[in-house]
Amino acid sequence: MAAGFAARWVPEVHFGVGRAGRVADDAAALGDPDRPVVLVSDAALVDLGIAARLLAALEAAGARCAVFSEIAGEPKQAQLEAATDFVRRHHAGLVICLGGGSALDVGKVAATIALSDDGPAAFAMEGKPLPKRGVPKLCLPTTAGTGSEFSSTNIFTNQAGRKVWVWGSETKPARVILDPELTVSLPARLTAWTGLDAFAHALESCTNTHRHAWNDLYAHRALGLIAGALETAVREPGNLAARGAMLLGSAYAGIAIDNCSAGLAHNLSHALAALGPVHHSLATAFGLEIVLGWQVATDRGPFAAAADACGLGPDARALVPWYGDLLTRCGIERRLPAHFCRLGAAALAAEMRAPETRYMRRSSVREVTDADIDRFAAAMMALADGDRG
Ligand SMILES: [Fe+2]
Repeated sequence: MAAGFAARWVPEVHFGVGRAGRVADDAAALGDPDRPVVLVSDAALVDLGIAARLLAALEAAGARCAVFSEIAGEPKQAQLEAATDFVRRHHAGLVICLGGGSALDVGKVAATIALSDDGPAAFAMEGKPLPKRGVPKLCLPTTAGTGSEFSSTNIFTNQAGRKVWVWGSETKPARVILDPELTVSLPARLTAWTGLDAFAHALESCTNTHRHAWNDLYAHRALGLIAGALETAVREPGNLAARGAMLLGSAYAGIAIDNCSAGLAHNLSHALAALGPVHHSLATAFGLEIVLGWQVATDRGPFAAAADACGLGPDARALVPWYGDLLTRCGIERRLPAHFCRLGAAALAAEMRAPETRYMRRSSVREVTDADIDRFAAAMMALADGDRG
């Protein structure tokens, strides 16, 4: 019999090619018709016209709309504060979050806390309980992806430069629209990076100490979908079958990480982000390649099951060369941004032991010693330009 477990609730999901075109139906179902709809979106999606298409559909149905698109890079406290003020100022009756993980995290938090008197920093790291009542939220992810649309965790960099998170099921949206068409304009590089982050969510959630039978259903299905579709989505951006498989895989992986959390690869990527700007997905992809061989060496089943889910048979060790090859086939260049070359491995190792990232270390099935941390940190910093021959 399976061991006891608890699984978190999953927002209502609508999946389909072209489904975003019916966003006015969603607004009518979820929002307050007497109040405006606030769209929180990446600036890039405004430029691409994706946001405009949604706005046109909403306005054709009679909705009043306002757009907040001051999101560049990964979320900062100031952006989150500005988005919250924007939602409050417009007395929004619905917040639509459109974009990658950054836009989704910002929109989710802004809507959740909009009816309170506090800013986002007050709720970070569970400083205050989240309000039970917020503005209703609808999420439309355009990457596959962070899985933020299914996650209780919303990350931002605070004024002290630390990565912190607002955590709580209150931040989950009432509904998620998964439309593969929304992801076809994602460039190959970001398709690869974000897809590998989703892969890490699935793999880490079904191989750490929190794993359980219910969650394995989501995680293993995510691994199979991503393993089967990522390279095609990178090479053929308009392939809607591959885009759809990736979007579902990322969604299942998001549900999985919401239930069972992350592991060492995310410890490495969050620690690295504390030292300087780096794309979360790329850093996580590097982190997983660094720790995977060490993790599978003592595997007693979870990694073998994950390998099987990837189509490799129940052989944990097969994951290591396969994953390295996947990175290469997806065009991943093993190189960190130049600003990391000034920093030593000791600085990264210290961040890997910081309170914010410690729990991702503790979830490892294999005990992680300080010497292991030092070795992983050294391997990551060896990817900085200054150490390349
Ligand atoms: Fe991640």
